[in-house]
Amino acid sequence: MEERLVLGICGSLRRGSLNAALLRLVPRVGSELTLAGEGLAGRLPLFNPDVENDEGSWPDSVRELRDLAARAQGLVIATPEYAHGPAGVTKNAIDWLVGSGGLVGKPTLLMSASPGQAGGMRAHAPLMPTLTLLGAVLVDCVVVSRAGSRVDERGEYDDPAVVERMRLAVAELEDALSYAEGRRASLPLGRLV
Ligand SMILES: Cc1cc2nc3c(=O)[nH]c(=O)nc-3n(C[C@H](O)[C@H](O)[C@H](O)COP(=O)(O)O)c2cc1C
Repeated sequence: MEERLVLGICGSLRRGSLNAALLRLVPRVGSELTLAGEGLAGRLPLFNPDVENDEGSWPDSVRELRDLAARAQGLVIATPEYAHGPAGVTKNAIDWLVGSGGLVGKPTLLMSASPGQAGGMRAHAPLMPTLTLLGAVLVDCVVVSRAGSRVDERGEYDDPAVVERMRLAVAELEDALSYAEGRRASLPLGRLV
């Protein structure tokens, strides 16, 4: 089976992050995917156009992010919801990608996990127009509510409903990657119903 590189962006810096655990589920349920960059967002400096415009001054983390975005076939974002919006860490990572062109045409999964009932879904809406502007193709949004009760003692998701939801989302992503590579004639819209 062909390996595909997917850039993972985690908007949480927290030890035991429920969103980082969601990202770790991606390769568990998608055998074709290699996830990279999960720890990068937390190492990026705050976005500054002066730095962006002077490539010689880029920190390694920025270089790494831009390089991964260029090489990756797809994108997976797992973001906390803070005060009904996306985490600043998530938006900061995306800001560093605005000028890169690295997201154009890239199938993208948007995910959030929260101990609350809404599962962090209010973090998604503000990110959607931004991702669309950057050319990313949003294939699915995953929301995990009451997430703290769905992980085991190691902090890994063990709730079958979460694992199955992620399996479907990752299958959607893999189909979209095949479509983007011209290996599928059409997107499998049947799954949407
Ligand atoms: C400042 C702050 C604001 C928060 N706001 C929300 C919120 O609006 N909605 C929500 O569902 N959870 C909210 N939470 C709870 C987070 O969803 C929760 O801490 C979650 O575990 C963060 O993601 P992580 O586990 O990946 O770090 C907030 C937490 C903090 C610290």
